[in-house]
Amino acid sequence: TKSDVWSGRFSEPVDELVQRYTASVTFDKRMAAFDIQGSLAHAEMLCAQKIISTQDLADIMRGLKQISEEIANDSFDWQIALEDVHMNIERRLTDLIGDAGKRLHTGRSRNDQVATDIRLYMRSAIDDIDHLLHRLCESLLNLAEKHFDTILPGFTHMQVAQPVTFGHHLLAYAEMFNRDIERLRDCRKRVNRLPLGAAALAGTTFPIDRERVAKTLEFEEVCRNSLDAVSDRDFAIEFCADAALIMTHISRMSEELIIWMSPRVGFIDIADRFCTGSSIMPQKKNPDVPELARGKTGRVNGHLIGLLMLMKGQPLAYNKDNQEDKEPLFDTVDTVSDTLRIFADMVSAITVKPEMMRQAAFQGYATATDLADYLVKKGLPFRDAHEAVARAVRFCVEKGCDLSEMTLEQMREFSNLIESDVMEILTLEGSVKARDHIGGTAPLQVKNAIANMRERLGL
Ligand code: ARG
Repeated sequence: TKSDVWSGRFSEPVDELVQRYTASVTFDKRMAAFDIQGSLAHAEMLCAQKIISTQDLADIMRGLKQISEEIANDSFDWQIALEDVHMNIERRLTDLIGDAGKRLHTGRSRNDQVATDIRLYMRSAIDDIDHLLHRLCESLLNLAEKHFDTILPGFTHMQVAQPVTFGHHLLAYAEMFNRDIERLRDCRKRVNRLPLGAAALAGTTFPIDRERVAKTLEFEEVCRNSLDAVSDRDFAIEFCADAALIMTHISRMSEELIIWMSPRVGFIDIADRFCTGSSIMPQKKNPDVPELARGKTGRVNGHLIGLLMLMKGQPLAYNKDNQEDKEPLFDTVDTVSDTLRIFADMVSAITVKPEMMRQAAFQGYATATDLADYLVKKGLPFRDAHEAVARAVRFCVEKGCDLSEMTLEQMREFSNLIESDVMEILTLEGSVKARDHIGGTAPLQVKNAIANMRERLGL
């Protein structure tokens, strides 16, 4: 029972419900490998500083190796009564090697131990997510390359605005995910600092060498204040903010994929293996993956707020509240990772329907701005050009035709500056090709942007 763990201080065993209530082993055992890694680094330093003997270190290494194996092959006996991953491992170690196991916790507290474990876990999760974001960008870039000159209507307010190239549209998402990578890498710097040595809150009386432990664990720095080291979780909040942005970008993209796949729009199809059917309607093929991703975004964004709320009222230093950081954090990592993994594959499995996109681009006078720009280049002030074209559009709306379907005479009714060279301006190709500068939608610029991003991402 738990009274074993706390020993002499307690006169009765901990209530069974309280035991379950306070235990975290069911979820924090996922950090076991990092806990062992941290313990090995700590023990190695204790030995180097002559705080424990070389024999103790050898025993600890042997014991922890066996425990790693037991955990890996699922024979480790996790016990709720031992509360968390740290005490489960420590107890097993002592069962295996005796007194040396009891010496491992010298100069250490679970407070700096758990903070170290979380940071090691998060550093590895960040590196995985970084890689997955690269894969997703690569899929987006490959699809963008195929459709560098495929034209579809661009929208503002969900109303047809101007023609854009599909490659350009996809690159907008690649830019967002590229910034997500930047943010994660920045966050990683603050994650990658060593709390060990802070002990419970004030440091330790033993002659420890924190720099040595930091080096062993490949931390870039040591946390500079012991109180802060054990109670700070802002690195986790920062990560969750980055994750919330990743999911928000995924969610916006999902929304578009869903709209594009609707038969009313029909711009794309998503491969069957990423869709599901209906139990009643035999004809259905639903874009469940983007819909779920949009839904899961709510969950991940909620975790960010959850962690902020968890921290806001905590006095220094460690409080048990902090144990509540793990489930939202783990769920965030799982959700983001799975989502990115699926999206990287799904984007590669999108079939584009250029003729549907093209048809849609002809609706809604997408080249009206081009006509206004044309008049400006002929000498008309922009506001007058805007008005002339607005009247031309109104004429077309009444006639039920496109701007490009007016005769030259009809056009000249609205401005006698219009000449026969206007026809090229009013085509979809002419419109996108004319936006020929860095960040513009012209097919050549899309090609440049793809090359530029490949270089930035090291692809
Ligand atoms: N399971 C605990 C956590 O997640 C470990 C630290 C416990 N420390 C303590 N003083 N109760 O935060």
